Amino acid sequence: MPASILYPGTFDPITNGHADIVRRAARLFDRVVVAIAANPGKTPAFSLEKRVELARAVLTDIRNVEVCGFAELTVAFARRQGIQAILRGLRAVSDFEFEFQLAAMNRHLGPDVETIFMSPAEQFTFISSSLVREIAGLGGDVSQFVHPAVQAELQKLKKR
Ligand code: COA
Repeated sequence: MPASILYPGTFDPITNGHADIVRRAARLFDRVVVAIAANPGKTPAFSLEKRVELARAVLTDIRNVEVCGFAELTVAFARRQGIQAILRGLRAVSDFEFEFQLAAMNRHLGPDVETIFMSPAEQFTFISSSLVREIAGLGGDVSQFVHPAVQAELQKLKKR
């Protein structure tokens, strides 16, 4: 097993499902770097700075986790961090096609970087950031799906 792993994503915002994957990875690897992509193509609801701030707040109790923002190729960022493995979560079969394409393209761009998949606990398999944003925006309760700090920011987003 490599000592360090990079967990990239948009994290718009980080959910309990993402946090579950990070906690599992932190038990297996010495260092987990949560890499938050600027990803302007996805027009995120939260700024990169806010997404980084929220991930740090949610993961603050895990000693061997770092959170960074990045705006370059994932494989290039991994290399700059001295990391040879990318972690992605698989919630259901429906995630597989996109994840397989992403892993293949990343392998093409950086043959020295491997992709490793982990799945979250069953109760998190149906959570997604966009569903959480939609539910919060319509006044629904998202307390089971996100950390209270994220819930508070979703409330502010609603008032804007
Ligand atoms: N728990 C909850 N939700 C999860 C999840 C989990 N464990 N795993 C995935 N998801 C959901 C997210 O909520 C999100 O849902 P949404 O789209 O409905 O909001 C979706 O799956 C994917 O989001 P996320 O995990 O944040 O990652 P992403 O697919 O947006 O990330 C990057 C894509 C950032 C990894 C990719 O675009 C990238 O590498 N960009 C950098 C530039 C680059 O290298 N490009 C070339 C790539 S080959």
